Amino acid sequence: MSTKRKVSVIGLGYVGLTTAVAFGQLGKVIAFDLNPVRIKELNDGHDSNEEVSDQDIKSASVYYTGDSECLKEADFHIISVPTPLDHTNHPDLSSLLGATQTLAKCLKKGDIVVYESTVYPGETEEKCIPLLQKISKLEYKKDFTVVYSPERINPGDKDHTFFNIIKIISASDEKTLTIASEVYKEVISAGVFPVSSIRVAEAIKIIENIQRDINISYMNEIAILLHKLGIDTAEVIEGMKTKWNYLAFKPGLVGGHCISVNSYYLLHKADQVGYRAELIMAAREINEDIVKFIAEQTIKQLIRAGVMVNTARIAILGITYKENCSDLRDTRVIDIIKELAAYGVKTLVHDPIADPPAVKEEYGIDLIPWDELNKLDAIIITVAHKFYIKLDKNELKNKLNRPSVIMDIKEIINKKDFADSGIIIWKL
Ligand SMILES: NC(=O)c1ccc[n+]([C@@H]2O[C@H](COP(=O)([O-])OP(=O)(O)OC[C@H]3O[C@@H](n4cnc5c(N)ncnc54)[C@H](O)[C@@H]3O)[C@@H](O)[C@H]2O)c1
Repeated sequence: MSTKRKVSVIGLGYVGLTTAVAFGQLGKVIAFDLNPVRIKELNDGHDSNEEVSDQDIKSASVYYTGDSECLKEADFHIISVPTPLDHTNHPDLSSLLGATQTLAKCLKKGDIVVYESTVYPGETEEKCIPLLQKISKLEYKKDFTVVYSPERINPGDKDHTFFNIIKIISASDEKTLTIASEVYKEVISAGVFPVSSIRVAEAIKIIENIQRDINISYMNEIAILLHKLGIDTAEVIEGMKTKWNYLAFKPGLVGGHCISVNSYYLLHKADQVGYRAELIMAAREINEDIVKFIAEQTIKQLIRAGVMVNTARIAILGITYKENCSDLRDTRVIDIIKELAAYGVKTLVHDPIADPPAVKEEYGIDLIPWDELNKLDAIIITVAHKFYIKLDKNELKNKLNRPSVIMDIKEIINKKDFADSGIIIWKL
């Protein structure tokens, strides 16, 4: 590497593996993860998340290890471990603080510690840096320095990738900012965007995600209202698109470990400083409640179609948290399944990408193979995987009884193709 820094990556999930493999094209990278199963599969040359190709793993010079002592070989350590919520919707920083402790034990004079995990403004300086100092017995800014550079990758998106998304960079001091910028510029063709402080960088990441949460909640609120008014939401959106300052948001489920989680992270921080962030709270509530609306509407449409609700065969198409990505964490589809179960309605779940054992382990659900989905009374299209978008309309029709219902949450069905078919098409 021309910058002469030796990179280590701690936490080899969607973000960490992508980062390790990118730097591994330039020189040797030490890649550490707590999970021995993950280390084994990466040493076998495969990423079960399907985010990094076998070819890219093979061509990168990355040493995958579960031995934290190896981190001593590096001097530019990138931490990319999960920052989820606990069961009360508060930040669960256990992985982040755990990784910080592990690294602190290996820290040397001159090292740079980079945090890429998403956190609330202030977290790095208030929690991580004191822990690094305490355990390493080294002095912050004198013996080691810190960078905060949030990752903005979008798994499953082949257009916006690690390489072409501008990297926000902040650091404890100007010299470290320059070094980190140079290191990242070696792998990120879009370049870097340095900002004045770690808190600003933390805020950028979290607030850009919350902006999406709020905008989607507005569309969800509007969708519910337009249903009550008997107005087609999709047609309204088509009309809105003709204005120059239209914002491209659609109603839908807000799942995943980024957008909704980030709102709760900022709400936690707002609470600490005694501020009620009303809009963010309202957005969260609306986006969580959209699940109930979809489940209720499914029941209503089945009754309208004259189908016996209790015995209806209902297929859920897609269980991952978003399209073309196998990630199951914080999927809101599970809430639709539970909500329908509360009405005594069973569902048959299909997903072309999700790993069946992982679905079973995480949610206790056995995925149904595509060919076994037949004689259905309803289909709920919950995730717009390419597999579903490419489906021939006749294949879908053949899976359904008459009368029946398609709940097209993802707007992938052309209503005209189903005119006079005996199938009710419902859209959000
Ligand atoms: N996945 C995304 O789309 C995405 C995008 C941008 C930012 N982020 C943020 O990046 C961070 C990482 O997310 P991810 O999706 O890559 O996580 P992930 O769950 O896919 O992977 C995390 C990895 O870290 C490992 N790990 C956990 N604790 C550890 C520890 N103490 N020491 C070493 N390894 C440990 C786990 O075994 C796992 O392999 C999070 O803060 C997330 O919010 C994620």
